[in-house]
Amino acid sequence: MKWQKKFVSTLVLAFIFLCIWILWSSDEMKDSLLLHKKNYDYMKDFILSPPVTYCKKSSFLTIIVTSYVGHVELRSAHRRAMPADLLESMNVTRVFLLSKIPVTEKYITQAAIINELSIYKDILQGSFVENYRNLTLKHLMGLRWASNVCRPTYILKVDDDTVFSLEGTYKLLLKLGIQETVLMGYMLNNTVPRRNIENKWYVTQQEYNLNKYPEYLSGWYYITTSSVATRLCDMALYQPHFWIDDIYITGILRNILGLKLIQVPEDYWLEYYELLECCMTDMTKKFIRCEYVVGPNGGRNNLILEFNEALRNCDNQKNCMVRPIDKPLKRVCFVKRERDIFSKGQGKVELIQA
Ligand SMILES: *[C@@H]1O[C@H](CO)[C@@H](O)[C@H](O)[C@H]1NC(C)=O
Ligand SMILES: *[C@@H]1O[C@H](CO)[C@@H](O)[C@H](O)[C@H]1NC(C)=O
Ligand SMILES: *[C@@H]1O[C@H](CO)[C@@H](O)[C@H](O)[C@H]1NC(C)=O
Repeated sequence: MKWQKKFVSTLVLAFIFLCIWILWSSDEMKDSLLLHKKNYDYMKDFILSPPVTYCKKSSFLTIIVTSYVGHVELRSAHRRAMPADLLESMNVTRVFLLSKIPVTEKYITQAAIINELSIYKDILQGSFVENYRNLTLKHLMGLRWASNVCRPTYILKVDDDTVFSLEGTYKLLLKLGIQETVLMGYMLNNTVPRRNIENKWYVTQQEYNLNKYPEYLSGWYYITTSSVATRLCDMALYQPHFWIDDIYITGILRNILGLKLIQVPEDYWLEYYELLECCMTDMTKKFIRCEYVVGPNGGRNNLILEFNEALRNCDNQKNCMVRPIDKPLKRVCFVKRERDIFSKGQGKVELIQA
């Protein structure tokens, strides 16, 4: 009789496990585990997207540019600085991340955006409303789309007001070679939440209750890979939403995944618009090649075009020299400023003088 008892209890146990397994793998169970099904929907529901043929299978680099829907001129400057045929010859795809026109916007219509897409094919428009508090959704949407649809070796995330050199970026990527896991950019260490209600980046205890942010990369410009982007987007489904996009994605989610950040090389990043201006003037007037790759546009829409053109002039006519070691830009260029470089956390206050 003993073996019969054993047999029955084994059968009962197996049945129970089967039930648990069925329940566990059902969609309802999964849905209830997803803290942020809404995030998930926004990541994959678009109003407009590039044609299915837009991404060649396995390109080298996909550039995702977060762009306010009304910034038509900025997008135009990006397209002229890095024209489609140049991108194609380098195995690069670029897409602008937009979302729904807010009611406060008076100068742009949805018809104009549809027209822009039909001409340039490079617009991904999310189904949420444009707002800086919705930037996390836009950022995740871009990472998801790039890693799902284009599946490139590298993804570059920039803002539409970031100035960067395409060739300079490309050179760095070639140096990195083919890697699965890269998160490289301007690291921000030891930043703390702004608790002053008047600050644009004011964060309540409820939104973020620790008194320090994890190390993160500035959302101006950072480099990652398709496989990292996939993991970040998946992790976003299970972690409480936080609206400051670069802190949430490259700080909080990245930290949970245990991924390391890499700081861009020195001589790569210009924190102030004035330094970029100096670097440009040195190229056009003194024929000293600008060694820097990234900087802010200081509100000047065409700076990305002028910067890339000046660099190409330098390289094509081969009449530019390397900056003398004893006269580094950040010392020679006179910028007397006292302000935050990045406004989202406790910014660095720096005084740069000749
Ligand atoms: C484009 O990039 C992919 C991935 O890096 C590579 O496999 C492919 O050979 C490249 N194609 C060209 C034309 O360079
Ligand atoms: C974010 O997008 C949602 C969906 O469109 C919208 O309801 C909400 O108002 C937006 N948030 C803000 C702060 O505008
Ligand atoms: C942040 O820390 C990393 C090392 O953890 C360092 O390489 C990097 O230069 C630091 N960045 C800044 C802006 O201090």
